[in-house]
Amino acid sequence: MIKRAKVTIVGAGHVGGTTAQRLVEKEIADVVLVDIETDMPAGKALDLSEAAPICHYDSHVIGVEDYEETANSDIVVITSGMPRKPGMSRNDLLRANIDIVKKVTESVVQKSPHAILLVVSNPLDAMTYVAYKVSQFPRERVLGMAGVLDSARLSAFIAMELDVSVESVFAQVLGSHGDSMVPLLRYTTVAGIPVTELIAKNRLEAMIQRTREGGGEIVKLLKTGSAYYAPSAAVTTMVESILKDKKRILPCTVLCQGEYKINNLFTGVPVVLGGRGVEKIIKLSLNEAEEASLKESVSAIRAIHQAVDQILSSPVQI
Ligand code: LAC
Repeated sequence: MIKRAKVTIVGAGHVGGTTAQRLVEKEIADVVLVDIETDMPAGKALDLSEAAPICHYDSHVIGVEDYEETANSDIVVITSGMPRKPGMSRNDLLRANIDIVKKVTESVVQKSPHAILLVVSNPLDAMTYVAYKVSQFPRERVLGMAGVLDSARLSAFIAMELDVSVESVFAQVLGSHGDSMVPLLRYTTVAGIPVTELIAKNRLEAMIQRTREGGGEIVKLLKTGSAYYAPSAAVTTMVESILKDKKRILPCTVLCQGEYKINNLFTGVPVVLGGRGVEKIIKLSLNEAEEASLKESVSAIRAIHQAVDQILSSPVQI
């Protein structure tokens, strides 16, 4: 019997809810939305089911408050956690969200021991590491969403600046999903033309800064909660590449073990994303300045990984 793939989304807030919507609208998978808030996930799922006749999809979606129905998911997307408030950095969420992501990971891996875990909770690099440590899954099956979103933001700004289609822009952002993210302009092109030949250096610097602060800009505008349209679009692209075994090359947060001279650290690098999860890490050659930026990003991530190790090994409940 041929069955549709199954994706569990933990956290039925804006990111989780819009991800569910995008997945069912594309009929990529059946979706289980999980949230601790009573009835809310069931409400969103029913609303999505009632939209199905109008939008022509037959994917099923249910909303639940425990993990029973999540069993044997192919992918589990973890969006749970406290969102940022205006003025907060992603790292300000560390303590609260370690506890949440740890509990969620324990629950999902019990029911879906063969799933691929896709982490969205912030601070992203650290939360992906938490999911990896707690699940004890191989590195191929634990990854974080950051580079696709950060690259999309840079692409959007470039397309606005040049007044051309976003489809003609290809941007590449690696490293941490934080202030030290690493936009690679040498690998950023418009219809194959290096962006550095099309836009003045000072304008590009401004766009890079806007990309670094992209999440914060939205938090400030929304006043409550953080971005969700672009994050859910990024997650959907990653899920689609896995479930359709497309093997797209996308920047994802994965465990580097020697690649880019980075050891045992979750960092954003380009990977081949297919049916087995992270199938390969693509090695770009970096010049001295790019290597230095990546090194800086890596040291910021290493500090936060160490904080995770400390908090996870502390017997005190947070
Ligand atoms: C952002 C959040 C998802 O960058 O980190 O909008």
